[in-house]
Amino acid sequence: MSTHNKDRRDFVKKSSLGILGLSLAPSFIGKMGPHNRLRTAHIGVGNMGAADLDAISSHALVDVTALCDVDANYLAAAKKLHPKAKVYSDYRVMLKELKNEIDAVIVSTPDHTHAPASMMAMNMNMPVYCQKPLTHHVSEARAMKKLAADKNLVTQMGIQVHSFYDYKLATLLIQSGIIGKVHTVHAWSPKNWGYDGVAPKGSDPIPDTLDWNLWLGTSAERSYKKGVYHPGNWRKLMDYGCGTLGDMGVHIFDTPYNALELDVPRTIKNECRKPTGFGFPENNVVTYEFPGTKHTADSLKWVWYDGPGAPKDHKDLVLPKNKNKISKTETKDEKKAMKDKLSLETKTTSEGVLPEQGAMFVGEKGRLLLPHFMELPKKIVDGAFVDISSEITEIEKVNNMGKPIRNYASEGPKHYHQFVEACLGRGECSAPFSYASRLTETILLGVIAGRFPNKTLHWDNTTAKFAEEEANQYLESPYREF
Ligand SMILES: NC(=O)c1ccc[n+]([C@@H]2O[C@H](COP(=O)([O-])OP(=O)(O)OC[C@H]3O[C@@H](n4cnc5c(N)ncnc54)[C@H](O)[C@@H]3O)[C@@H](O)[C@H]2O)c1
Repeated sequence: MSTHNKDRRDFVKKSSLGILGLSLAPSFIGKMGPHNRLRTAHIGVGNMGAADLDAISSHALVDVTALCDVDANYLAAAKKLHPKAKVYSDYRVMLKELKNEIDAVIVSTPDHTHAPASMMAMNMNMPVYCQKPLTHHVSEARAMKKLAADKNLVTQMGIQVHSFYDYKLATLLIQSGIIGKVHTVHAWSPKNWGYDGVAPKGSDPIPDTLDWNLWLGTSAERSYKKGVYHPGNWRKLMDYGCGTLGDMGVHIFDTPYNALELDVPRTIKNECRKPTGFGFPENNVVTYEFPGTKHTADSLKWVWYDGPGAPKDHKDLVLPKNKNKISKTETKDEKKAMKDKLSLETKTTSEGVLPEQGAMFVGEKGRLLLPHFMELPKKIVDGAFVDISSEITEIEKVNNMGKPIRNYASEGPKHYHQFVEACLGRGECSAPFSYASRLTETILLGVIAGRFPNKTLHWDNTTAKFAEEEANQYLESPYREF
């Protein structure tokens, strides 16, 4: 065997394992409906739930069988698109009543309901596609991972860009050693899911169209206030969401986390303002230290920046053609693209302008910039961009990747269809709960560190506890009977 062929074979093996997480994946089994079709039940069908419904139902072998939402307006809109589907406001009733009529469940609710709904479905042996972050609490992430493994179920977390060309490419480039062993990763998003206020007093009338008790679900009893929680704003609030880190962090952490084959961190420090106990801080700088892997130095430093003005200036983030200053000026096109996901294919990072969101890997042989999203990774050595087109061509060829499409409408469904195919017994998911739970745990540890500004917390992966006893109370929360 020639050395070239052996290297090439090793490279293919290594690359595809990294991308698919195959070293972690058990042999999943799906639960097929009649005639090899998949009957799906959707929990949460407004906003992202509507996008999830659209993407899953675009698979030719899917029958949308049930829809569930606590908001009758969102439910009615979804029913209009899928008139044959049965409708429910309580997922517990739906799962019990339809246990023999559905094969897979899609969970697209606010974060605090991800685990209760997914766990119930998995306990009934159903495959689950659950939105990111996988859970609201660390204890739930561990429980989801265990249950999915014990029952050998098909699972997928809703990080659809995981299946996009540029992220796969960046993973393979890093694993091929394009910048050598990586010692630092910077990741950032200027989005702001912080809220510097206390819990509102009093209550507003609950709209007739909303079941507030079911919206609260397992979380503590609380009075309804218009516009504070539902829809969407729960993200800013500690009892329901996970702030900007739990929102954009999951997407932006995903590629470096996957590429470097990281496990959970050893230490975490969040430099932010003192939290109010109700909303998340607005500007978080979270520094993680991870044990080394075969792709990293002896240990890996990871810094996350969010909120207005993020990222902070740092020498690792200075781009060629603009060595003395990091410009966050966006082109007209970039501004438009950030406003409209569907137009993101028109977004390009001009040289010298740091992308608004993204990640920078820093290794012994240079840096790799991965803009978020739908842009090629870029290599930088000694203050200059380096042409890596031949490495990219080779990776495309060896991994049968094809060329980038960079059209959200056609790239978007891939991750969902991968789940459907896996449920039908064809192939495996690339972001199963075995992987998603560790990524989510990592994110949530940074969120908890925000309760203890500027303090380094020490995490024990074996016991799943912090050395700092006062932080352990935030690993889980009691479930309310509802
Ligand atoms: N992958 C992505 O790109 C992406 C993008 C946006 C949101 N998300 C994730 O999707 C989830 C939903 O986010 P969103 O922005 O659509 O939130 P949202 O508040 O706008 O919508 C949530 C939907 O779930 C419904 N709902 C709430 N509680 C429910 C319950 N107990 N049972 C049934 N339905 C319930 C709401 O009525 C609403 O229709 C979050 O976990 C979020 O992180 C992912």
